[in-house]
Amino acid sequence: MKKVLVFGGSSSKSSINKKLATYAASKLTEAAVNSIDLNDFLMPLFSVDQQSEFGIPEHAHQFLQLIQETDGIILSLSEHNGAYTVAFKNIFDWVSRIKPKLWSDKPMLLLSTSPGSRGAQSVLGLGIAKFPYMGAKITGTFSLPSFDENFKEGKLVDESYKNKLLELVTQFENSL
Ligand SMILES: Cc1cc2nc3c(=O)[nH]c(=O)nc-3n(C[C@H](O)[C@H](O)[C@H](O)COP(=O)(O)O)c2cc1C
Repeated sequence: MKKVLVFGGSSSKSSINKKLATYAASKLTEAAVNSIDLNDFLMPLFSVDQQSEFGIPEHAHQFLQLIQETDGIILSLSEHNGAYTVAFKNIFDWVSRIKPKLWSDKPMLLLSTSPGSRGAQSVLGLGIAKFPYMGAKITGTFSLPSFDENFKEGKLVDESYKNKLLELVTQFENSL
């Protein structure tokens, strides 16, 4: 059975991006889902000095191992001031010190959402532009605007968004 690693790019306990990624994963028909939380991988703030003094934290190795063991990734990026959250960027930077192409040639369904009408498209754009150079094989991208209006009780309520996401999940699963 194929394995899919699922997470939101946020350390918020009530992360709407984790909810969106989890919802997308619930539409997989056969793959086994491994849903993780960035709070389980918190590390000191990355700096070259921190690395040379204390080395790379074990959590960075564990995170990379999860990527390497999986067959695909569903990630929904959370946007802070037009960019990645600190929690995501910190993990990303640490893991990239072990393996610059950290996404390890894995198929990736890349999502984003926010309560605003742009649906975190800025950070999604960063991921679309950069992740392929870091080993991601992006199979599809999707931004959900106005999360609170479009996502209720754990589900996408808007039919057109629902159908679009389902199509992308199917495409992603077929690529595993
Ligand atoms: C410091 C900060 C900056 C934010 N900047 C943006 C932004 O640039 N664009 C946006 O759409 N939402 C922004 N938001 C709102 C977030 O999209 C919202 O908090 C969302 O819930 C974050 O996703 P998460 O719940 O998965 O962490 C910001 C929120 C915070 C706390």
